[in-house]
Amino acid sequence: MFSKQNFLQQYGNYYVTGVEITVALALIGVIFGTLLGTLLAMMRRSKIWLVKAIGAVYVEYTRGTPLLVQVFIVFFGTQILGLHVSAFVSSSLAMGMNSGAYVSEIIRGGINSVDTGQDKAARSLGLASGQSMRYVILPQAFKNILPALGNEFISVIKESSIVSVVGVGEIMFQTGVIQGASFKPFFPLIIASLLYFVLTFGLSRLLRLVEKKFNLSSDS
Ligand code: ARG
Repeated sequence: MFSKQNFLQQYGNYYVTGVEITVALALIGVIFGTLLGTLLAMMRRSKIWLVKAIGAVYVEYTRGTPLLVQVFIVFFGTQILGLHVSAFVSSSLAMGMNSGAYVSEIIRGGINSVDTGQDKAARSLGLASGQSMRYVILPQAFKNILPALGNEFISVIKESSIVSVVGVGEIMFQTGVIQGASFKPFFPLIIASLLYFVLTFGLSRLLRLVEKKFNLSSDS
């Protein structure tokens, strides 16, 4: 007879592995994405048109194509280039490359949200443009950037479910294995959704605390 307790005893370990891999994927994706996104945001502010154009094309193309397609392209692309990396590595790369485009827009939006008068005032006080950016604009932009970066982290956790298609053993992949082994299509999915929810809800609460601590709420 089907008992939920037996079920978890039997398949619990699969879920544990799945959660570990999902968290690792999301962490690597978001760290790599933040670095790439910062670089892209800087490129898009460049005065050299070619640098600016490369940044813009990358961001638009990445945001305008499905993550699913990108995951396959990086998976097979690394093989064609002779890089024999695991599905986990190629998927982390794809997640990071995808997230970078979104992060660059978050940073750009954060910087643009600071009134241009701030820069003018800083410049008229004798700060160079780089100094104005560093000491006046960025500290204010940060207030808008940090909460949005937190949301991006949550998106990346959810979007990582896509990489089960190339065989990375994250939550959705393990769920598929459990569905096959138990002949139960429905219940394993409920557990998977709960796991994702615990991860994303936990993270959003944690981010709230951080925002409060830094007094980053948008109305302060
Ligand atoms: N699911 C959408 C896609 O396939 C959105 C991806 C969002 N990615 C992100 N890093 N926020 O393109």
